[in-house]
Amino acid sequence: MIRLQNITKRYDGTAEPAVNAINLHVAQGELLVLLGESGCGKTTTLKMINRLIEPTAGSIHVDGKDIMSGSPVALRRSIGYVFQGVGLFPHMTVGENIAIAPRLLNWPSEKIRARVDELLTLVNMDAAEHRDRLPDQLSGGQRQRIGLARALAAQPRIMLMDEPFGALDPLTRDTLQREFLKIHRDLELTTVMVTHDMTEALLLADRIAVMHRGAILQLATPRDMLAEPADEYVRQLMATPRHQADALEALTHEERD
Ligand SMILES: Nc1ncnc2c1ncn2[C@@H]1O[C@H](COP(=O)(O)OP(=O)(O)O)[C@@H](O)[C@H]1O
Ligand SMILES: [Mg+2]
Repeated sequence: MIRLQNITKRYDGTAEPAVNAINLHVAQGELLVLLGESGCGKTTTLKMINRLIEPTAGSIHVDGKDIMSGSPVALRRSIGYVFQGVGLFPHMTVGENIAIAPRLLNWPSEKIRARVDELLTLVNMDAAEHRDRLPDQLSGGQRQRIGLARALAAQPRIMLMDEPFGALDPLTRDTLQREFLKIHRDLELTTVMVTHDMTEALLLADRIAVMHRGAILQLATPRDMLAEPADEYVRQLMATPRHQADALEALTHEERD
């Protein structure tokens, strides 16, 4: 579905490449998480898949086709993108924000209106109540829902999501994670999601790619990564959620005694 071969990105004037000769294959229907600390190259990797950033070397294929062979605009319309920090247009209503891609595709206005309401319902928001609101009249979680609806508007089969739940309180994050997982499965999407949250990666991912200094240290299912971390760095990453789980487990037992 998505294949990165020897992808390197070197920004002008920097000593180290931001992304260094990575190889990655994302299967159809898979939810792949790029996990790593700030600055390790996650956003750069994601943005190369929809050509918001051009690689210095290497190739990327989507559905077997080299993404450099067509137009970047057509490519971006076929791939949903949820930006780090959502990035809704503040002067546009919820409905107008969601309708950006359908409008660019010249859908008839009746079809756009129906699609906006359908998407609001999909992300569990009352369409009549919210479609004419401005983004600053929404909570953080609601804005994130609109970011998701906007990315899904033109019926992409691929979703790229950059820390989509990063800025949310834990309860809202938990709800939105579950809702997105359902949408990912129901719509049979292929998703690449960026996060620096180990627990989120373990709970959502079919496979996790751990990135460190522009390289992929390990690519494995959550189960395999927990059982057999490839090196000391990955082992330490996996230790945090394990300690938390152990602490919770201990608390539950104390209560029972
Ligand atoms: N436009 C840019 N110009 C120069 N360096 C950049 C640019 N964007 C990102 N970088 C650098 O590339 C590295 C990877 O950044 P990024 O992909 O944003 O990491 P992440 O999303 O994992 O936090 C960082 O060292 C960052 O400072
Ligand atoms: Mg980033």
